[in-house]
Amino acid sequence: MRKNIVAGNWKMNTTLQEGVALAEEVNAAVKAAEHNCDVVICVPFTHLATISEKICKDSLGLGAENCADHKSGAYTGEVSAAMVASTGAGYVILGHSERRQYYGETSETLREKVALAFENNLTPIFCIGEVLEERENGTYFDVVKKQIVDALFHLSAEDFGKIILAYEPVWAIGTGKTATADQAEDMHAFIRGVIAEKYGKEVADNTSILYGGSCKPSNAKELFAKPDVDGGLIGGAALKCADFMGIVEAFN
Ligand code: PGA
Repeated sequence: MRKNIVAGNWKMNTTLQEGVALAEEVNAAVKAAEHNCDVVICVPFTHLATISEKICKDSLGLGAENCADHKSGAYTGEVSAAMVASTGAGYVILGHSERRQYYGETSETLREKVALAFENNLTPIFCIGEVLEERENGTYFDVVKKQIVDALFHLSAEDFGKIILAYEPVWAIGTGKTATADQAEDMHAFIRGVIAEKYGKEVADNTSILYGGSCKPSNAKELFAKPDVDGGLIGGAALKCADFMGIVEAFN
């Protein structure tokens, strides 16, 4: 059966020293806490190697927030999936809306990134979600379906089964405006149906679909109680250990 997962997305926050301190704090808290989910932190590239040595990866997974769409070579400033994997990280966030919006990521580049993640045994946390206008004009199901179909439906069932999906309505990211638990469930159930149509019910039932967008300790329990919401991708609230743990402990 699918896993419950709470993953932090630190974005472009913390210096190396601050990040290491936060990771150590979270690592200790996760070990001590009662929870019934996998916990992952996705951190800036510069922090990966150091944090990898400081945490116990059996209890706290480590991931990058992105990787390059090329294997290696003359791509100044890029960081490859192989480089990420060589730090000991096991996950990579791909297709975050901020990457799509500010750095022009398309389904085409994301297909390359997913392939390179797999080649390097990284588990993609693959983000999808509509913008406010698409929510308001009622096209949000179509938009999210297209994001999944275009970037992922060329995969074999076996490879698709390695992906963690994160539904993040863009209008809820960093805005304090959370999708209601019912809005999240509607979309998650829809996504699971789209997967079932293509890969069958078993693959769909085994896919973890996380919710992201202003998830916090006060709303996590209600969101995670929904049958198709398998956890969260947490931005702002992942930067304070107590807040992040409040969300982790929503699964207990
Ligand atoms: P937020 O970000 O929790 O700060 O809304 C979530 C994300 O973008 O992954």
